[in-house]
Amino acid sequence: MKENGKWSSGFGFIMASAGSAIGLGNLWKFPYVASANGGGVFLLVYVIFALAIGVPVLLAELAIGRYGGKNAVDSCKAIHPAWGFAGGFGIICSVLILSFYSVVGGWVMKFFSKCITEGLPSPEYFGEYSSRTAEPILWQTAFAVICGLIVVMGISAGIEKASKILLPALLIFLAGVMIYTLTLPGAEEGVKFFLVPKALGEIPLSKVILSAMGQMFFSLSLGMGTLITYGSYLPKSSRLVPSAYTIVIIDTLIAVTAGLVMIPAVFSFGMDLKAGPGMIFSTLPAVFARIKGGRILGAIMFLLIFIAAVTSAISLIEAVASFLIYRLKISRKAAVAVTLGMVILLGVPASLSFGVLSDVSIWGMNIFDFIAFAADNVIMPLGAIFICILVGRIWGMKNAAEEISNGGRLKFKGRKLLGAILNYAAPAVILIVTVGAFR
Ligand code: TRP
Repeated sequence: MKENGKWSSGFGFIMASAGSAIGLGNLWKFPYVASANGGGVFLLVYVIFALAIGVPVLLAELAIGRYGGKNAVDSCKAIHPAWGFAGGFGIICSVLILSFYSVVGGWVMKFFSKCITEGLPSPEYFGEYSSRTAEPILWQTAFAVICGLIVVMGISAGIEKASKILLPALLIFLAGVMIYTLTLPGAEEGVKFFLVPKALGEIPLSKVILSAMGQMFFSLSLGMGTLITYGSYLPKSSRLVPSAYTIVIIDTLIAVTAGLVMIPAVFSFGMDLKAGPGMIFSTLPAVFARIKGGRILGAIMFLLIFIAAVTSAISLIEAVASFLIYRLKISRKAAVAVTLGMVILLGVPASLSFGVLSDVSIWGMNIFDFIAFAADNVIMPLGAIFICILVGRIWGMKNAAEEISNGGRLKFKGRKLLGAILNYAAPAVILIVTVGAFR
């Protein structure tokens, strides 16, 4: 087996991991999920869960990866030979997520190019475009291939280098766009709705809590083996606790910023906040159409969403490819090719489910929604529960703390608390979200 390589710097690792976490979940899902769930209350619940559950589970994954030093399955096996399956959930889930991620990534590329060449798309355009047969598949394939090429270049020369440029660019531009949209007349109402928790009206609190937890797991890429894989490229001297906090904080800040870009803009023109998944593809272009410089703003927004999607997709490809490289003893290039092959095979029906295959329904969902449901609501939570059990009970908190404190060289006072969260709180919470999703 060829050595996969290591991160060349702590900064590079943080940018790559934050880049993995920051994706369509932050820019596409978070604003509409928050809007549909009461705004301020949702945000409050979200932040509490991110700190109380997100940080510990993320820390557990990084610790497994750095300890095992291999892909998700074999790192879990290094802890206990019978527990490779805990990482296996992540590998399967990565392929599933990639297949619908590349569909959305393709839409984003198309919308960007349309803003540049023709102008802002009309609100109806999204429905019409996504139901076409050939063109979305071409863009989807282009998206997958671009991400694959970055992964082929390797850990430090490909993934790390791309993330070190793309993520800071995303942060800076998004902050710029936020300042612009916050100064729109009438934006204030939207800011209040999003930042101030107030009575929920007819939305049940249980629904808000369920959606916040689900969103948190998706946004932080938890239970997926990605962070195990990225953790395996860390030098033994790295500091895991500050890394976990930093990744969660950056991810949450970007989600909040995305909310502050989109929600006030939508409010300011009195448009429908409940647009759901179509928010960035129909409502947002309609909002931009009424703003001076809206076309440029639209192009920038779609470019940023594209960047966020790329840095996430490369981490998903890496999680699968590193497993294939190790197990099948094939080259990085071949592993990426096999991964993309699976992704396209599944992704094409997912894309067509908005058009010619829209009548195909699995448990009342179209193919796209079914794949997303299976990944987000079944496989990802199961993987996360097993990772909690693996670290909390099988490995045990004594060994885990040994790894987290770099063999006692760093202070680590949170061992008891971390144990309580991994053994009880996190599995309970995840179970509730999962069961809740089926009701
Ligand atoms: N966190 C990503 C986002 O916010 C989505 C995601 C979920 C993901 N699981 C992942 C990305 C695993 C990379 C790896 O869009």
